[in-house]
Order: sequence, then C-alpha cells, then structure tokens
Amino acid sequence: MIELRNITVRFNAGSPLAHTALDSLSLKIKEGEFAVIIGGNGAGKSTLMNVLCGNIIPDEGQIIIDGVDVTKQSPSKRAELISRVFQDPMVGTCDDLTIEENFSLFSRRGVGRGLKRALNKDMLQHYKEIMDKLGLKLSSRMKEKMGLLSGGQRQVLSLIMSTLTPAKLLLLDEHTAALDPKKANFVLKFTNKIVKKNKLTTLMVTHNMKHALEEGGRLLVMNHGKIIEDIAEEEKKTFDVQRLWEEVNS
Ligand SMILES: Nc1ncnc2c1ncn2[C@@H]1O[C@H](COP(=O)(O)OP(=O)(O)O)[C@@H](O)[C@H]1O
Ligand SMILES: [Mg+2]
Repeated sequence: MIELRNITVRFNAGSPLAHTALDSLSLKIKEGEFAVIIGGNGAGKSTLMNVLCGNIIPDEGQIIIDGVDVTKQSPSKRAELISRVFQDPMVGTCDDLTIEENFSLFSRRGVGRGLKRALNKDMLQHYKEIMDKLGLKLSSRMKEKMGLLSGGQRQVLSLIMSTLTPAKLLLLDEHTAALDPKKANFVLKFTNKIVKKNKLTTLMVTHNMKHALEEGGRLLVMNHGKIIEDIAEEEKKTFDVQRLWEEVNS
C-alpha cells in the first residue's frame, strides 16, 4: 500500500512567485489498484508524480510505501520501487540504441546504470514473447534503432520496459498526450492490458475526460494542489459529467 500523508509542496517560497503546488494532500492507494487522476493545467498532477518518485522532496508530509517512510529517499533508490512513463515518447527510451539494447538497459533498472551485461538469448526470447503475446509486431525488429519507431510504438515499449522488473507502483503522467487520437487510444488500450495482466498498482494522470471516465478504476479529481473528488469505479458510470467538467476547469 502507498500512502501520502498531508503532502505540501511550495515553490519559490518567500518570493512574489510563491506558489503552493500541493496543499496538504493525503491519499491511500491499495495494492493492485488502477487509479486515474484528472485535473486542469497547474492542478499539481505532475508535482504529485515527482513527489512520489523522489524528484521533489515535499516541504511537509510523509510518503509511506508498505509501512516504510520513503519521504527522503533518493530517486535512484526509489526507482527500485517505482517505475514511470512520461508524456514525451523521446524521454522514456534511447534513440541511438536498438530496441534490444533499450530492453537490456531497462531490465537493469535499480541495479545500476550502463550496458555492462549483454542481453542473453533467453532474456531476448522472453522479451520477444512478451511483445508477441501483447500483439505487438515488433519482435522481428529488435536490432533496429529506437529512433526509427513512431511515438506510439515507443510509448508502448516504454510501458513494457517499465513493467519488466517488479515495482510497487507504476506512474503514468499523461503518457498518451503527445500522440494523435488513434495512437493515444492504442496506447491506452495497451496500458489497460498490461496493467491488468500484471496486476500493477498504477496511478495514471490524464487531462482527457473520456479516458478518465472509461479507463482504469477509481477516479481522483485534482484542483489547486488538492484532491477534491474521489470517485469509486462503480460510481463513475453514474457520476455527473457536467459537474466533473466544472470541477476540472474551475
Ligand atoms: N519547478 C517548479 N518551479 C516553480 N513552479 C512550479 C514548478 N513545477 C511546477 N510548478 C507550478 O506548480 C503548479 C503545479 O504544476 P504541475 O504539477 O506541473 O501541474 P499539472 O501537472 O497538474 O499541470 C503550477 O502552477 C506550476 O506552474
Ligand atoms: Mg503535468
């Protein structure tokens, strides 16, 4: 279980630009839960992701993962527990390396950086099988440079790679926002598949109302650094969409 207790993040404290990005935010995410976060621009969604993965240390509050306080733990240490897919397809994978080399790099997450050990045949076969099982037509292209793939293909591979080693939490920060609608849909469906298959505890940020209502389980609405609505999966179907629009855009 992941627990955030009264997390506050202030930027530029003491200056005229002072801004509270997270305002005493508390949240519990159960193991295996697929929670979706929606909120307008500047609501604090990315800051929340950054706090969880350790890129931002909160000014106040605690982060507890399975009973351990990880609030001050470094991002590299926390990478053993938390994996993440970013909005920009270019961030998650390396252009100049082949698909195979990217897999090798990712399978060492939390072990240390670098391509010290070549990918062995068994592992390679394993990754190819994962891709085939998930219906990806990329297993014959392992020796091609990542830079040759489309944004959608790269996001899908980032997702697979982020889930290669077991993690306590998968963070998806608008990971379909940079893609055209068709590719975004494909990546989203794929996300569902991989999250359900691996029973991953997942927090997915989106600004797409349709995605928020149709995908994942529990829906959290963020505004001005707070969670202002916490909607259970069963309630989503009957929730007043107009009210949701107003809350997200207020
Ligand atoms: N590094 C930073 N320095 C100063 N202000 C920041 C920084 N990161 C985010 N903010 C501000 O904090 C607020 C929340 O940002 P963010 O979490 O990126 O929002 P969202 O992802 O919901 O659009 C915004 O007002 C943003 O301008
Ligand atoms: Mg953001």
